[in-house]
Amino acid sequence: MAVGAVVQGQAPTVFTTLFEPQVRMAIWSRPSPMPPDAPPPADFTAECDGRWITLSGAAPEWLLQDIERLAEIVAAISGCDAWRARCETVTRRACPRFHQDAVPVRLIVAYEGPGPEWAFAGEIGEDLDGRNISTRRRVRTLHPGDVAVMKGTAPGWEAWPEFPQVLHRSPPAGRRSPRRVLTIDAAPM
Ligand SMILES: [Fe+2]
Repeated sequence: MAVGAVVQGQAPTVFTTLFEPQVRMAIWSRPSPMPPDAPPPADFTAECDGRWITLSGAAPEWLLQDIERLAEIVAAISGCDAWRARCETVTRRACPRFHQDAVPVRLIVAYEGPGPEWAFAGEIGEDLDGRNISTRRRVRTLHPGDVAVMKGTAPGWEAWPEFPQVLHRSPPAGRRSPRRVLTIDAAPM
């Protein structure tokens, strides 16, 4: 099956497409696993050295289960059993410019609020701040619960410059409309 730079699917098997060099981002579309009546989780980090997982604080069971499952995906894609996870409440647009992350591979999911905005670099050109209407029309936003795994700029993947690179940025957020975001990075030692 020929696939483009971004692949979206309804099952986590979509992430196997990342082994194709031209695929820059894969998205698993799913409902948010955060129970509707659950209190928002406190910010915390989790680190795995390949054997042991260290948590910086308490976290609800639904979140720990999701992190364990998603970290397995990051490990399978990156070939590295060590990873770092960060769960945080975001109340502002942290990264307003379109960019790529300086990591080999990053998983990101918003449990509450919108997920990252993304666009093909070739479609937005120099307008990395997304000021032009033509750019805004080309920007897609991930839904709460959607899991995106993106290849970054750090060594670990062969670039394929003939294909469009995919850029992303934070969506708007505020104190009254916070986002609960989890990122997991492969952490090669
Ligand atoms: Fe980023």
